[in-house]
Amino acid sequence: MKSEEPKAVSAVGPTTREILPGVLVCADADSVARVAARYFVEWAWQAIGQDGRFNVALSGGHTPQMLFQVLASQEFRSQVDWGRVELFWGDERAVPPESNESNYGMARRELLIRVPIPGGNAHRMEAEKPNIGRAAQDYEDLLREKLPLDSRGFPRFHLILLGLGPEGHTASLFPGLRGTRETSRWVSTPLVPKIGSRRMTLTLPVLNAAHRAMFLVSGAEKAEILYTVLAGTADPPLPAQLVTLPDGQRTILCDEAAAKLVLEEIAAKGQFTGKRDAGAARQKPKSKH
Ligand code: 6PG
Repeated sequence: MKSEEPKAVSAVGPTTREILPGVLVCADADSVARVAARYFVEWAWQAIGQDGRFNVALSGGHTPQMLFQVLASQEFRSQVDWGRVELFWGDERAVPPESNESNYGMARRELLIRVPIPGGNAHRMEAEKPNIGRAAQDYEDLLREKLPLDSRGFPRFHLILLGLGPEGHTASLFPGLRGTRETSRWVSTPLVPKIGSRRMTLTLPVLNAAHRAMFLVSGAEKAEILYTVLAGTADPPLPAQLVTLPDGQRTILCDEAAAKLVLEEIAAKGQFTGKRDAGAARQKPKSKH
């Protein structure tokens, strides 16, 4: 068999450009979903070939919803050996699975009932339980049972799907929450001030222990925050910026609208400097004089 070029762009076709290492730009949100589905298929075969299982944590949000629709389509559904896929969640809202707000509920409607995955292979976070702390502990126990550990003792997913919130959150790790960086927990239940309720989320060390994490980012409203995350200049660092996977591969798959500021800078300066925010900040005080 002819060996494939291992470079990330090999799987994605001519319309996808790698603008920075691990940062791939597609034309629009539809292409992001399609390219993500191709990666999902490719990485599922790799993991199953190697470990007999594909352990994935899913996220909520609009872009994964489109990915699930593509994976459930006639074209894609038969490309994955669903009996060997184990699905987990990166985060969950404190609502029952029937709620429109439920990340599990969305995945169930768009994917789980449309592909031949055994019911026992989908492990939802029971964040609606009155004792959400206990439910988080139960989820940690489940991860301990199902996943291998890395050298630091954290569970190692084959793939974690992530989104990027407009203020730099990912999973349910929001900026300004205590304990985002330093934690030995695998699953936490932060009180998210913006929404006034708790959520359940995988913690930063678990995200960083994965073999792969793939951020799906689309839409013009993400342009500022994507630039900031790629620049890595926010201080204190944004949760999304801290997901670097030291022993794995981070892929950011975005559309042109989300990458607009980065693309503009590369077009104007020939490279990405990440200095736009610093420049803007320096200019502000000057304008007061
Ligand atoms: C959630 C998510 C969250 C999401 C981002 C981006 O439950 O809301 O897991 O972290 O991924 O908010 O969401 P969009 O893709 O919809 O912009």
